[in-house]
Amino acid sequence: MNEKLTIALTKGRILKETLPLLARAGIEPLEDVSSSRKLVFDTTSSDVQLVIIRGTDVPTYVRHGAADMGVVGKDILLEHGAEGLYEPLDLGIACCRLMTAGPVGWQGTGARIRVATKFVNIARRHFARRGVHAEVIKLYGAMELAPMMNLADLIVDIVDTGNTLRANGMEPLEEIASISSRLVVNKAAMRSRYRPIQRVIDDLAQVLENGDAAA
Ligand code: PRP
Repeated sequence: MNEKLTIALTKGRILKETLPLLARAGIEPLEDVSSSRKLVFDTTSSDVQLVIIRGTDVPTYVRHGAADMGVVGKDILLEHGAEGLYEPLDLGIACCRLMTAGPVGWQGTGARIRVATKFVNIARRHFARRGVHAEVIKLYGAMELAPMMNLADLIVDIVDTGNTLRANGMEPLEEIASISSRLVVNKAAMRSRYRPIQRVIDDLAQVLENGDAAA
């Protein structure tokens, strides 16, 4: 059994914004994670290692105990579920909004609408709550193209600056959820490895509480 505490992270914005928080909590990878092809990294905290996986795989690794903890966007937890996971901290990073969006000036017909998204469960729940009959079409990226090509009327996607929507003749319509990255912990590991896990949670909570002043 691997005795090291394993924290799962994702390349990109989450990694970029999580590494400084971890560093302030005394956990720094021993080599440059962004430029390496490696997937496992030892850290300055000898009993903690980092693994780099896809965002959608973080809840899976943590749920199965292959990683003890992870950092993952709330969008992924809402879409894929959070069973088997504790969510002790909102890290307040990689903030954005999950929104419906449509072509500028789009007027709903009131009839059945087609919605393109990679967040199919979130989209189905959202339109069902509003009593809107929506056909949800699963895509894996470039959702903004779907209305342009008449594949869908609307999309459900992450909006940060809104630049991607604007560049494609679309506008945000309704906010479904406010998104940020969360620390998640395997429920069984929280009991069996309580002390090291709680130490990381406490240290990160302290870093967040200190805010930029301690940067
Ligand atoms: C997200 C999202 C939009 C874009 C929005 O994609 O799907 O395309 O960011 O950001 P903006 O409002 O600042 O333009 P991301 O770059 O995360 O890649 P993805 O397609 O893999 O989700």
